[in-house]
Parts: sequence; structure tokens; C-alpha cells
Amino acid sequence: MSLPLSLSKDKIRIVLLEGIHPRAVEVFREHGYTNVESLSSTLADRSLVKKIGDAHMVGIRSRTQISPGVLEGVNKLIAIGCFCIGIDQVSLEDAAAKGIPVFNAPHSNTRSVAEMVIGLTIMLLRDIFPKSLAAHRHEWKKSKGSSYEVRGKTLGIVGYGHIGSQVSILAEAMGMRVVYHDIQTKLPLGNARSVDSLDSLLEIADVVTLHVPEDESTRKMMTGEKLGRMKGSACLINASRGGVVDLEALADALKSGRLRGAAIDVFPREPGSSGEYFASPLIGQENVILTPHIGGSTLEAQENIGAEVANTLVYFSDRGATEGAVNFPAVNLQPNEHTHRILHIHENKPGMLKAINEKVANRDINVLGQYLETRRQIGYVVLDVDPEVSRQLLQELRVELTGIDGTIRTRVLY
Ligand code: NAI
Repeated sequence: MSLPLSLSKDKIRIVLLEGIHPRAVEVFREHGYTNVESLSSTLADRSLVKKIGDAHMVGIRSRTQISPGVLEGVNKLIAIGCFCIGIDQVSLEDAAAKGIPVFNAPHSNTRSVAEMVIGLTIMLLRDIFPKSLAAHRHEWKKSKGSSYEVRGKTLGIVGYGHIGSQVSILAEAMGMRVVYHDIQTKLPLGNARSVDSLDSLLEIADVVTLHVPEDESTRKMMTGEKLGRMKGSACLINASRGGVVDLEALADALKSGRLRGAAIDVFPREPGSSGEYFASPLIGQENVILTPHIGGSTLEAQENIGAEVANTLVYFSDRGATEGAVNFPAVNLQPNEHTHRILHIHENKPGMLKAINEKVANRDINVLGQYLETRRQIGYVVLDVDPEVSRQLLQELRVELTGIDGTIRTRVLY
């Protein structure tokens, strides 16, 4: 189950599926990982197991299913990289139980979403979408009465996290006034101003843009009642998650002229693949821009994702760092340039640390640093030990540590 002591990097086999951006391969090579196979397609079940059965790391996107059955068939896998945002395609707890951390890239497309929101803001305030549709129908709708500059208008950002705060910077650069509401205390950027409630934000914003996760507190956050609190001339943008807005209520508010317009990129039910039938109560409404969940879909974002996930896999392989793993105890580690490093993954139960330390002490090995982190059923101990300890002694210790009841995997970075 574990890598031999310091397997040389060219022997670490990495398989990438689903046409992951070539930047990922470059990152691996820059760090000495030359044994990388990159396929453009996905694989399933038996052919997937055959391909990754002896791989040490695998990179996938959203279509490759790493099921419990697939995990049973892999022997050497130490890490999985999801080169995307979603992680539903991997059996996360089964992977954790096998000592396999799973990494993704939740924020690589932040800028792409923020840029699209700014574009949509301008398009909504200028009525560009209905005017363009009319031109496509041979109609010349050259009115200026309902068009506005964004300069001086108030943008209300709900959720001031990675994307919301980027939108804030871009909007201010165009002369917009920015107010935001977040359930956490967030430092304002530039001249942005925090408001203490969603209602206060809705009452003053000319454009409201949502950048919250979908959870209990945000599901159908924009009800008919909330939409009713918005200024009559205001627009709503949702490029967060589909469940955050009550679309029936939004359709009613737009039909009745309560709201000026909306741009919606995410939907409660989205087609599974390109070209599939799409239905929404907003279809056919004037000044409603509908986009197929493309806020984060740019080539730059794909490149960022390639680099970000490849780097996390490299850091895990080189140092044992698990920060950013979605199913694993998070340990942020610097390179062990002046120590040997022992990584011990085990079942999270009492007495493991004591058992590990006893084995190390019995061998008279000086410990220079120790880290322990646990998450659900998994414990992760990292020991930095005296660099003078011989390879032979480390090998013997590794066998002893692997023999501790409850051990899932032991690695030694020599
Ligand atoms: P983030 O986690 O960095 O920020 C979310 C913010 O929302 C946090 O500051 C959090 O405190 C705040 N928040 C949570 N519950 C709240 C509530 N009830 N009221 C007010 N604030 C609340 O997330 P990030 O990266 O900015 O993403 C935001 C959303 O955008 C997520 O739903 C994400 O899934 C979505 N997204 C959509 C994309 C697209 O293609 N349209 C692409 C990437 C992300």
C-alpha cells in the first residue's frame, strides 16, 4: 500500500483524463514528474481501473466516476486531483478510508465569474440584450430613454468572498458605488461599504449580484418578498448557485414590471450536457439574459485549474502537504529540506500518536517537528526527524509503523 522509500519522481506514474489543460503536465514536469500520461477522454469502470490500477496519482474532471468499486481496484494511488470545482464524482469518504486525499480547485475561475458579472451589469443597464434580439428580428430599436451608465450606480453584492470581492474591485474601477452584505465580517476593499442586512442592501442597490454558496441559509434566499424589497428600476444577477433564487417569483416580478431585468447563469435544474433541452420560467422574457452556467468557463480558468491542482498534487507528493484536500485532515507543510519526513495515515482512534511516538523513541530517533491533524475517521501524523538517520533505519521504522493496528498508509520522504 505504501510507496517504497523515496521513489524517484520519474517512477511516480500520473494519469490525467478528460483533456486536462496542458499547463498541468508542464507543472508536473517542472517539478521533476516526467511519467505523466494525459488522455483526452474519460474512462469508466473496468477500463478506468485498468488504466489507473498502478498509477500513483490521477487527475480527472467532472465526468470520470471514482466509485467505491474503482477505488477497490487501485493499489498504488496516493492522491486524486479533480481539475474542476465539483467533487461529487468521487467517493470521498471511501477514498479517505484508503488514505487517499482528494484535491480540487474551487477558486481558479474567480476572475472569470467577476468579469462576466461586470459585463452583465452593463448589458442590463443599457438594455443591450432586448435591443440586440430586436435587431436580429430586423427591428431598429434606437431608444435611449431606458439606458444608463453604470458610473455612479450602486452595486449590491451579496456574499463578499472570493468572487464577490473581485466584483467589488472591478465595479469600483468603473465608478460604481459598492455595498455588500456577508454573514461573516469582511474587510471592505477600496471604498466599498458593508451593510448590516440583506434587506438594507436590496433597498438601496441598482443592481444586486449574488455570490453566496448554496446551503440552508441561502436556499431560495431571494423569495418574492425579498425581490419586492428591491428598487423598481433594479436588476438582479445570479451567477452563484441555482437554488438561491425563487425563479417563479422572479419571473412574476419581471412580468409585472416590478423589476427592470435579470441575468441568470445558474439554475435549480441544469441539463447534464451541452445540447440537451433546457427549461426555465424565465424563457421568453424581455431583458432577461440566460446563460448556461458559464460564469467560470474560460480558457484562462482552465489553465489556472491545471496549474493549481497539479501544484497541490506535487506538494502532497513532495512534502505530504494536504491543505486544500476536501476529504482529508489539512496539514500545511513547508519542504523538508533539512530533515527526513515520515507521513502516517491512520484510523482516527485513541492511542495512535502514543504508539507512533513509542516506535520512534525505541529506535532512538530524534524528532525535530511533529504535526497531527484529524478529520472524521482519518488521522494524519507528520514527523520530521534527524537527517542523519540512515536509510536502513528509516526502512525498518516504516515497517514497524505500518504494523501499528489501525494504520492505513505510511510514507517516508527521504
Ligand atoms: P466564497 O466561499 O469565497 O464566498 C462566499 C461568501 O458568501 C462568503 O464570504 C460567505 O461568508 C458568504 N455567505 C455565505 N452565506 C451567506 C449568507 N446567507 N448571506 C450572505 N453571505 C453569505 O465563494 P466564491 O468562490 O466567491 O463563490 C461564490 C458562489 O459562486 C458559489 O456558490 C460558487 O459555487 C459559485 N460559482 C459559480 C460559478 C459559475 O460558473 N457561475 C463559478 C464559480 C463559482
